[in-house]
Order: sequence, then C-alpha cells, then structure tokens
Amino acid sequence: MLGIISGSGVLPLFAEGQLIAVPDGRYGAPSGLPRRLRMGGRDLVVLPRHGYPHHVAPHRINYRANIDTLATLGVTRVVALTTVGGIVPATWTGRLVVPDQIIDYTWGRAHTFVEEEAVSHADFAEPFDADLRARLIAAAQAVGIDIGTEGVYGCTQGPRFETVAEIDRMARDGCTLVGMTGMPEAGLARERGLPYAMLSLVVNPAAGRAVDPFDLDAIYRVMASGMESAQALLQQALAAGL
Ligand code: HPA
Repeated sequence: MLGIISGSGVLPLFAEGQLIAVPDGRYGAPSGLPRRLRMGGRDLVVLPRHGYPHHVAPHRINYRANIDTLATLGVTRVVALTTVGGIVPATWTGRLVVPDQIIDYTWGRAHTFVEEEAVSHADFAEPFDADLRARLIAAAQAVGIDIGTEGVYGCTQGPRFETVAEIDRMARDGCTLVGMTGMPEAGLARERGLPYAMLSLVVNPAAGRAVDPFDLDAIYRVMASGMESAQALLQQALAAGL
C-alpha cells in the first residue's frame, strides 16, 4: 500500500479521507492523524507532515514517529509531497520536480532509528527509489505535465528562509532545490526499508534568485494550481499501479 506524506500545500482531497486512530508508538505521536482514502481506484494512507491544520514547524516534526506510523499501518512505499524554493532556472516557480539527490544541512533533529544495541549503516548513495521516481515521471508525462526529472534537494533547518549567501553556497554545492523537510524523512524511510520518492512543487525562487519582487499571493496561486497538477499526476500514477 502507498503512503503519502503531504506537505504545506495539503491537497483538499486529503482532508476527505477517513481518520485512523493511531496510538502513540515507540517514538511518540506523529504530526497528525493519518487518513485512509481511495485515489485512482486504490487504497492509500496519507499523513500530514505538519499536522492538520498546519501547525508543526519543520524542525519540530517527529519524523521518526511519522515514518514508524506509516510502516505500522502496512505502508510499503512512500511518496513525499514537498514545497520548495527554486535555485536554478530549470526549477522555475510552479514547476513540479522529482529530485534524484539530497544534501542534508539540518542539525539537531532525531534523524535515525539506529540505537546503541544494533549499530547499522544504511546505504543512501541513491536516496530516492528508482522505480517510484520512474512511475511519478511517467505519470506526469501521461497527463501532460512538464515535470523536472532530476534535482538536488538541499534540506535546510528552517523555519526561517535562507540568506542569499547560503543559497549561493548551496548552488555551489550543486543544489537545485531548497526545502526544510526532506531530511531526516528520506533517511528514516531508507532505514525502515521503505522505498521513498519525492514530488516537489517549486513555490518561490530561493533567496536572491527572484527576478520579480516577493509576492505572497502569487505563491498561494502557484500552490493551488501546482497541487491540482500533483493530484492529477498521483491519480494517474495510482491507476497505473504505483
Ligand atoms: N527555502 C526553504 N524551504 C522552502 C522554500 C525556500 O525558499 N520555499 C518553500 N520551502
């Protein structure tokens, strides 16, 4: 069964599913109650990363409880929806991108399931699942969405946005997207053996990358139309067996 971790621009559809009462697990409570719903003719579970309504800041999210909850509910693969800033011209505002790499700039987050009793090191060379990525990209192309098929997601600590110098450094590092929630989420999914891919919606140019002045209303408009595209893409991907 597919699990979706939904981000800031929560799809209205996800508010309709049936709430699942989950007890707090070994890692505490998830950000919000997951919901069970049908999409593209398939059952899936959606977990709101920031709670519902949105109230948990990126550095305060209980990423371990979120991943643990999904695994406990029988989820076998995860698609993470994230909103991001665009660092390079190919990540223009409004574009959907399926990133292929991550750089982690976060600190102080509970980032691993590895405890003292059993030390192990997960292979994370390719942080995203190739099959899930290919399915998301194929679904986008099937419904006529101009999707970015690669991207390096730089995960910052937040909740503040970055300085221009920080974004310049991230660009030199090779980042093309910047967000605040991809890590430790992706790493934890890997530790749990859950194939994980990300579908990112670019909602603003990263700091110092804007041509036009900052416009919050424009961001909300982009979010609304981008989430509609994301929904069409996911419906198609699920109908095609995601
Ligand atoms: N920086 C970090 N996270 C973000 C941004 C950004 O510019 N936009 C959306 N999430």
